[in-house]
Amino acid sequence: MNSELQIAVAKAELLVERQGSVVERLTAVCRLLQALPNYTGVYLYALEGDTLVLKAFEGRLTEHIRIPSGIGICGASVKTHAPVIVEDVLSDPRYLACNLETRSEIVFPILRDGVYLAQIDVDSDAPAAFGANDEAFLGKVAALLEPMF
Ligand code: SME
Repeated sequence: MNSELQIAVAKAELLVERQGSVVERLTAVCRLLQALPNYTGVYLYALEGDTLVLKAFEGRLTEHIRIPSGIGICGASVKTHAPVIVEDVLSDPRYLACNLETRSEIVFPILRDGVYLAQIDVDSDAPAAFGANDEAFLGKVAALLEPMF
């Protein structure tokens, strides 16, 4: 992880500890992540029953407020309990489009004792924007957010 991502983890830690409602704090973390290079849109979904429900975001609006588990790249992560990286969303048949600009996407699960609670979904307008560094980074952010779900 580069120093920019390490600093972002430290800032996220401060944001989750500060006062405010859960949604306010989740939104602040989305805003922090969205300021990183190539993090065009950041979306936090909670799994409620069998449906992912959008709780906070920063970036472009999305029509995907509720996503059934198993549908889309987001839903695929629910099924596998694993992160999903898609280098080219336009060639992935699972992709649920929010806009015409997105080129790549990463979804990172937020788990507690193996139970799927929520996920961090990041879109990028750059192709193949995400890799192992982003997985390591989002893993740390997911651990910070886990108590809030
Ligand atoms: N692209 C996602 C849908 C959610 S939006 O990116 C915010 C998917 O394929 O599941």
